Amino acid sequence: MAKRAVLAYSGGLDTSVAVRWMIDNMGVEVVALAVDVGQAAEDWELIRQRALGAGAVEAVVVDARDEFARDFCIPALRANALYEGRYPLVSALSRPVIVKHLVAAAREHGADAVAHGCTGKGNDQVRFEVSTRALAPDLDVLAPVRTWGMTREDCIRYADEHGIPITATKEKLYSIDDNLWGRAIECGEMEDPWAVPPPGVWLLTKPADPVPEPRDVVVRFEQGAPVALDGEDLAPVELIGRLTEIVGAYGWGRLDMVENRRVGIKSRETYECPASLALILAHADLESITLERDLAREKARLEHRYAELVYDGLWFSPLKEALDAFVAESQRFVTGEVRLHLSAGSCQVTGRRSDHSLYDYGLATYDAADSFRHEDSAGFVRLWGLSVETWAARQGGRVRPAGG
Ligand code: ARG
Repeated sequence: MAKRAVLAYSGGLDTSVAVRWMIDNMGVEVVALAVDVGQAAEDWELIRQRALGAGAVEAVVVDARDEFARDFCIPALRANALYEGRYPLVSALSRPVIVKHLVAAAREHGADAVAHGCTGKGNDQVRFEVSTRALAPDLDVLAPVRTWGMTREDCIRYADEHGIPITATKEKLYSIDDNLWGRAIECGEMEDPWAVPPPGVWLLTKPADPVPEPRDVVVRFEQGAPVALDGEDLAPVELIGRLTEIVGAYGWGRLDMVENRRVGIKSRETYECPASLALILAHADLESITLERDLAREKARLEHRYAELVYDGLWFSPLKEALDAFVAESQRFVTGEVRLHLSAGSCQVTGRRSDHSLYDYGLATYDAADSFRHEDSAGFVRLWGLSVETWAARQGGRVRPAGG
C-alpha cells in the first residue's frame, strides 16, 4: 500500500476533492503538483493555496512551458501529428510532460505513488498511467475519481462538508482542457453530435470585433521547427502564443469532430487550435518543396501512426522514439519560409521558399526553354506501362467494359 502520492493537481473540483478523499480513503499523504503548460490565465499561487487548504502536505507549481513547447509540441509539429487526420493532440501532448514532473516530484518528495483525477471513460487516464509505467515502473498509480463513484453534486457536498476550498458551482457545462497547443471543449449540449456548439464555448477563436483587416504572416522554420514570425526571432513559447492571438483573431482554427477514444467510445469534441493548426499547415507545405518524393510519401504514412501512438498514451515507447528518429532525420533540410494569408475565418498558404527547395523552375516550366529532357519520356512511359500492356494483350478480351 502506498504511503505518499504526488497528485496531478489542476485546482478544479475533482482534484481538490481527490486530495482529501485520498487521505481519508486511501491512507496516503498527498503532495499536489500543478504543472503550467500554458493554461489560460491561471493564478498559480491561488491554486497552490487551494491544494494546501484541501489537505495536501505540500503543493508545488512547475513552469513547464518551455519544455512542453520544445520537447513535445515541436516534435509533434515536425511529424505533422493530427489524430484521425484532424486533431493536433492538445491534451495528449501535455500528459506525458505532466507525468515527467510527477515522477520527478515523487522522487524528490519520497513518494511511492502518483495519482491523477481522470475518470474511467477517457483517454487521459491511459496517458497518465502508461507514461508512468514507462518512466517509473516501481511507482503505483492511484486513480481516486475512477473508484469513488461520486457525482458532481456529491463532490460539491463532500467539499462543503470537509471545508475544501472550491469555486465550482452545480452547473458545470463543459469539460475544458487547454495549454499552449490549443483548447479542448467537450460535454454539455455538445454531447448531441448534431447540436451546434454554442458560441460561448469559443475563447481562442472568438473573432475580434471588428475582424482585423486581412494580413499575411510569414513563418520561418529551421529543420522543421518554427523560429520566427515576420522576420522576428521568437522562442517557441512566445511564437506559439503570438500566433494563437494573430490567427485566433480571424476566427480560424476550430474543429468539430467525433473521434474514437482509446477505450472504444466515440466522442464529440470541439477544439480551437489556431496556432498549432496554422503551424502544421505551414510546416507541411514547406515539406512539399524540401522533402524528396519517396521520403515525403513514407513520412505521410508514418505520421498517422505517430499521431495514434501519442493519442493512445504511448509517447514514451520504443516505436514512438524510433519514429522520432526518423522524423528528425527527415527534417534536415526543412528550413525556409511559408507565407500564410489570414482573413475572416480563413488561413491559407500563399507562398513558400527555401534555400533547400527541390522545386526546379527549369524542370517545371512550360516555357520552350526548359531543361527537361523530353526525349527521355517516351521510353520511360513505355516501360512504366509495359506490364499492363502485356496483361492487356493477353487478357484484353476479358476486360470488362466501363460500367460493366
Ligand atoms: N479528446 C481529447 C483527447 O483525448 C481531449 C481530452 C480533453 N480532456 C479533458 N479532460 N477535458 O486528447
